[in-house]
Amino acid sequence: MTSSYGLEGYGLRGRAAVVTGATRGIGRAVAGQLAAAGALVCVTARDADEVRSTADELGGIGVSGSVGDPDHLREVTELALRAFGRIDVVVNNAATNQPYGPLMDADPGAWREAFAVNVEAPLRLVQCAWRAWMREHGGSVVNVCTEGAGHVGPNVGAYGTSKAALLHLTQQLAGELAPKVRVNSVSPGLVRTEMARFVWEPGEEQLAAGLPLGRIGEPEDVARAVVWLTSDAAEWVTGADLLVDGGTRVRTAHSAREYAVHDRLRSYAPPRS
Ligand SMILES: NC(=O)c1ccc[n+]([C@@H]2O[C@H](COP(=O)([O-])OP(=O)(O)OC[C@H]3O[C@@H](n4cnc5c(N)ncnc54)[C@H](OP(=O)(O)O)[C@@H]3O)[C@@H](O)[C@H]2O)c1
Repeated sequence: MTSSYGLEGYGLRGRAAVVTGATRGIGRAVAGQLAAAGALVCVTARDADEVRSTADELGGIGVSGSVGDPDHLREVTELALRAFGRIDVVVNNAATNQPYGPLMDADPGAWREAFAVNVEAPLRLVQCAWRAWMREHGGSVVNVCTEGAGHVGPNVGAYGTSKAALLHLTQQLAGELAPKVRVNSVSPGLVRTEMARFVWEPGEEQLAAGLPLGRIGEPEDVARAVVWLTSDAAEWVTGADLLVDGGTRVRTAHSAREYAVHDRLRSYAPPRS
């Protein structure tokens, strides 16, 4: 699927990329497409075995840990610089959708963790890459946000608020780091991954029917947008948010159906931990 999109022309050959949360889902597809475009990839996630096997599959390197831990982000940066001698691309993809539920019930620790993982970690990793390489040599950053950050929804207040903050952070960094470093975001709609399984699995057909483009997203749909933004093909694009949502935002002009995603979010009861 990847090679037919002409990734060879993107100028990514020999560039070094760090992708967080790259062992499955959207991050895995991004890392795979970057590797297919000739980039050297450094992948991260918390599960060490998954990191090892993903790095092996992609001919890259990896390090395990949570992006919520600043020491882990320093370790990732040092490893990539040691192994590749450069860090041209950072993709902040790892995220949490917890705490799930009404905000009046949100546990303060879980709320802080959501912001540590979804907002603070992208900033810290960009700071590390900037100091280590990008300030002098340039580079590009893509933050993975969500289509849902543009509106409110049931039970996802912490997630949506933190992703809205990430959108703002993207624009602020884009202004501060230009012209050396471009900073953009991609905002996916509903994509077939583990994180969103509780939304799409119970009735994918109904969800697809309500979308103008007639299907939910695949990780590769989002990865193509991310890789394009990281590449020289987007050299005059910074501070942009690229919506990759199958038409979710424009659905009300397409059909009068209820928004099935919100029905799912409203009725879902997470298993008690
Ligand atoms: N799927 C959707 O419908 C959808 C829609 C809009 C936006 N997004 C965004 O897309 C991005 C990727 O989500 P996804 O759906 O692809 O999720 P996913 O399939 O659950 O994959 C998440 C990846 O991130 C890693 N990860 C999770 N927490 C981490 C942490 N604290 N530190 C480091 N790595 C961590 C996971 O591995 P470990 O568990 O081993 O750490 C895994 O590699 C997220 O930013 C998400 O908000 C997804």
